[in-house]
Amino acid sequence: MPKSRPASPRWALLLSFVVLFGCFIIPAVTVEHANFKKCHQSGFCKRNRAYADEVSAQGYSWNSPYELDAASIRFKDGQLQGTVVKTVSANEKVKLPLTISFLESGAARVTVDEEKRLKGDIELRHGSKVRKERYNEVEKWVLVGGLELSKSATLNPETESGLTKVLYGPENKFQAIIRHAPFDVQFQRDGQTHVQFNNKGYLNVEHWRPKVDHPEGDGEKEKEETWWEETFGGNTDSKPRGPESVGLDISFPGYSHVFGIPEHADSMSLKETRGGSGNHEEPYRMYNADVFEYETNSPMTLYGSIPFMQAHRKDSTVGVFWLNSAETWVDIVKTKSYPNPLALGVGAKTTTQTHWFSESGRLDVFVFFGPSPQEISKAYGELTGYSQLPQQFSLGYHQCRWNYVTDEDVREVDRKFDKYKIPYDVIWLDIEYTDGKKYFTWDPLTFPDPRGMQEQLDESERKLVIIIDPHIKVESGYPVVEELKSNGYATKSKDDNIYEGWCWPGSSHWVDCLNPEAAKWWAGLFPYDKFKDTLHNTFIWNDMNEPSVFNGPETTMPKDNVHHDNWEHRDIHNINGIALVNATYNGLLERKKGEIRRPFVLTRSYYAGAQRMSATWTGDNQASWEYLAISLPMVLNNGISGFPFIGADVGGFFGDPSKELLTRWYQAGIWYPFFRGHAHIDTRRREPYLIGDPYTAIIAQAIRLRYQLLPAWYTAFHEASVNGTPVVRPQFYVHPADESGFDIDDQLYLGSTGLLAKPVVSEGATSVDIYIADDEKYFDYFDYTIYQGAGKRHTVPAPLEKIPLLMQGGHIIPRKDRPRRSSGLMKWDPYTLVVALDKNGKADGTIYIDDGETFDYESGAYIHRRFSFQDSTLSSEDVGTKGPKTAKFLKSMEGVRIEKVVIVDPPKEWQEKSSVTVIENGAKAASTSPLEYFAQERGKAPFAILKDPNVGIGNTWSIEF
Ligand SMILES: *[C@@H]1O[C@H](CO)[C@@H](O)[C@H](O)[C@H]1NC(C)=O
Repeated sequence: MPKSRPASPRWALLLSFVVLFGCFIIPAVTVEHANFKKCHQSGFCKRNRAYADEVSAQGYSWNSPYELDAASIRFKDGQLQGTVVKTVSANEKVKLPLTISFLESGAARVTVDEEKRLKGDIELRHGSKVRKERYNEVEKWVLVGGLELSKSATLNPETESGLTKVLYGPENKFQAIIRHAPFDVQFQRDGQTHVQFNNKGYLNVEHWRPKVDHPEGDGEKEKEETWWEETFGGNTDSKPRGPESVGLDISFPGYSHVFGIPEHADSMSLKETRGGSGNHEEPYRMYNADVFEYETNSPMTLYGSIPFMQAHRKDSTVGVFWLNSAETWVDIVKTKSYPNPLALGVGAKTTTQTHWFSESGRLDVFVFFGPSPQEISKAYGELTGYSQLPQQFSLGYHQCRWNYVTDEDVREVDRKFDKYKIPYDVIWLDIEYTDGKKYFTWDPLTFPDPRGMQEQLDESERKLVIIIDPHIKVESGYPVVEELKSNGYATKSKDDNIYEGWCWPGSSHWVDCLNPEAAKWWAGLFPYDKFKDTLHNTFIWNDMNEPSVFNGPETTMPKDNVHHDNWEHRDIHNINGIALVNATYNGLLERKKGEIRRPFVLTRSYYAGAQRMSATWTGDNQASWEYLAISLPMVLNNGISGFPFIGADVGGFFGDPSKELLTRWYQAGIWYPFFRGHAHIDTRRREPYLIGDPYTAIIAQAIRLRYQLLPAWYTAFHEASVNGTPVVRPQFYVHPADESGFDIDDQLYLGSTGLLAKPVVSEGATSVDIYIADDEKYFDYFDYTIYQGAGKRHTVPAPLEKIPLLMQGGHIIPRKDRPRRSSGLMKWDPYTLVVALDKNGKADGTIYIDDGETFDYESGAYIHRRFSFQDSTLSSEDVGTKGPKTAKFLKSMEGVRIEKVVIVDPPKEWQEKSSVTVIENGAKAASTSPLEYFAQERGKAPFAILKDPNVGIGNTWSIEF
């Protein structure tokens, strides 16, 4: 949700027309642009763009005012320090302390601050009590490691005057070349420049200055129009510190694709933003906001922000992470250079130039060098944390709607899923379950028996997720708001009163989770004995945490609101959401003494680091093909940006999907790491059993495919939790050398399984074109039709009942084939292995298994195996490391066996074989297992099925064919 604003006049008007003409029309819904700033309506965006234009216009005659004072440079223990001097006028120079840290991980970090503000040597306007420093605590919320300084980084002795060169990275193959005047930095790998800072001269640190009263009409007053105060949509931002933005251009020479900086409803390969055909006119914006009825193919901001960008070219990925939690915009321009002007464009090289600017805070940027996408994921994850290993249930199907209206309604939906044999794991309650939108309460009339409801769910190991938002209803006698107020845990307005705004409950206050005491108090609201009638199978959804404020500027809080420690809301806006989620996560960790479980929290607002504690979704999309299509690049982009646990509302939040659209959406939704159906309160009911056959049967089949592959999904999430790799991966990530695949964002790979899916996202389709990069064989998942041929698209049939899904030869895919009501009930089920052989008759794969619920895996309670097939032998070897709880876990899993092995494309000679030899834990099995070979018609691969090899999933074994 949110869902609908209290009916706007526009809506009221439309609705009255509908009533008037008595016909059912679906109004084309679009975002209300007037509610959100365009760049020219945001003072610092306009100023930074204008600055860039001015610099570009002056070209070579431009003199950047920023110089690194050579005498100030110190290099010690992997860190360079100095002072960048900004010359404002002949007698005004501003000192900007610079730190460049060279990290053991191979990353580099550049930080620029402002000396006067560090020293508190400035005056605030309006008698404000806010902090004087540039915000320097974002890393407290975001960074978890990877900051060890390099021991081997060293000044390059071969230097030139006016330059400082630092060798760093693995074997010192990286080099930072720092020019003193004008100040700029080139980052090189193997002698080649991959990333440039301030190469265009857009570096802009708006220093503190006192306000001077200029006379009307002298030009100065006009120039300063947005410096001291800004008004938008009737809200005035008092800006007690005046203008204070930081901006920088970052170029990637030779790179024509940049990805990342979610969240935007746009293609994964980011577009140019300075106009022109097919380009955006506006920069990509990151200012977490509740964008009602957001539009697609747009650089507009959405609910979450991850200011992490990757540039990719053949065989090289590099990345930058802009660590700043204030409002941020990024302009992107691509330029072509022709090394030989006579060659008519042959060998043209594209350079992507990006221009970043944030409204406040320090300039703080990390540079990662890859060169593989996997190495980028790893380095970024080391810094901001890897994705949480979620509870197993959360990878199943989630059934949500605004709202299931009574506890009996929930019980009924639960029974219907069973009646129609559709698996699901979680049912969700939106805001209406509360007593008058007072969180931590149940509506006594509609939910008289929440306990009984949850007990029924628990019988089939299902869970309940309920919504808890950060806006707290102002109502006397409501203990949560009374405690919030009496303890001073609420966010304050600029005049030091508790901030009051409008949200679902009406008049509300907002908990300030930047305050560690407030966060602790918030966490303390979740234990079972405190939050009455919640059980071990209750989990939490944090919505509206941008925060959404219906009557606030851009539907959020005023920027001059004040948080804990006197930081302005302006400074911390984009981490507001994760501060709440962190507190909720801590609340769920131990709700009863001694019962520690992995929390599950869904958040709408996010920032870098959210992956450690939550899942997210793409917010309030619409029931149309366009939104189905855009969900794929959005999910892929989040995945490569370190936050893979994401999905889109299946079916679309607003509006009623056609039966075909809903069916296709389920077939696509099974590929979202977070797989949830959700719908707005004004939509018709659409639980999958309601739409009738053949649709219901087709949807049930799709959901069962998700459940069949849960072992592969869980393994992919495990990889994400240790390596930072995306759970579903885009084409470039899997084939980084294949240039034709770089901008493909409508097909995806599941983890490392070689499973390649291309969901249907258009109406009436009967086939899709799947792009194949390499000359391996790809087999249709269901009938083993072979697709082969590198660098081209292959037409794969996709009638409504068919999910286009291929297996790249060379992989072993773990499955569980027995249909069950929920993932919890599959725990002791046997496994099936699908071995899709490659050209050389080889294949491999992995599986990760643990209890799916506790943190015992941290003490070794897991199974991690590598399967490989070569020389006609399939074997399983241990790749885990042991811990104190390993033996006990293995013992508990003893009875879990492999019941079937399917080998795709085995050699013809297997026709003669009827059995195989099985060796388990060093001993030959007493009986041989039967093998059956299936020849096929042309175009389809033969396959063989080995029944009941009966080897243990946690054991070491080999099967000789
Ligand atoms: C929540 O925040 C605390 C304090 O900042 C931090 O120690 C902890 O790691 C965070 N939790 C997660 C899951 O990131």
